[in-house]
Amino acid sequence: MDWPALKAKVKGCTDCKLRSTCTQTVLGVGDEKADWLLVGEAPGAEEDRLGEPFVGQAGRLLDNMLAAIALNRRENVYIANVLKCRPPGNRNPEPEEVAKCSPHLQRQIELIRPKLIVAMGRFAAQTLLGTGATIASLRGKVHRYAGVPLVVTYHPAYLLRNLPDKAKAWADLRFAVRTMQGL
Ligand code: URA
Repeated sequence: MDWPALKAKVKGCTDCKLRSTCTQTVLGVGDEKADWLLVGEAPGAEEDRLGEPFVGQAGRLLDNMLAAIALNRRENVYIANVLKCRPPGNRNPEPEEVAKCSPHLQRQIELIRPKLIVAMGRFAAQTLLGTGATIASLRGKVHRYAGVPLVVTYHPAYLLRNLPDKAKAWADLRFAVRTMQGL
């Protein structure tokens, strides 16, 4: 599948039940040839309404963090989620939904060919690494997804609820920058 085929597939997707309750699919945003790929969990209410990932409160925090390392969602980074449809009431993704939707993310990664993936939060990290390990245990190391270096950090929505952990997320981003510089 090339980009147009993948976009059409996701737009018309009914592989799981989420499409019957969401407003629209949310594939991703940014430079389709970016070196940086950031992966979150699933669209929330604002993302579902606007068709773009991370445009709510968590997205504003993410944009500020990206700006601090000279990245911008329209220019040098691509942002996607594990799920392309909003789970009702922002509930956690179900294993079957992740299993049905993750081939879309997999294909996105193959098409983008990023130099570095930043997995934000448990669902992104566990899905991409095929592990049940915690964020705390996965942080601070360079993992690999299909050969692509991958680092793990907290989800921006989690940081909004746990402000003291923002310092750790900032350390993770600096680690990501150092990792990218060393590639
Ligand atoms: N949380 C996510 O994981 N993704 C979004 O796009 C928005 C909030």
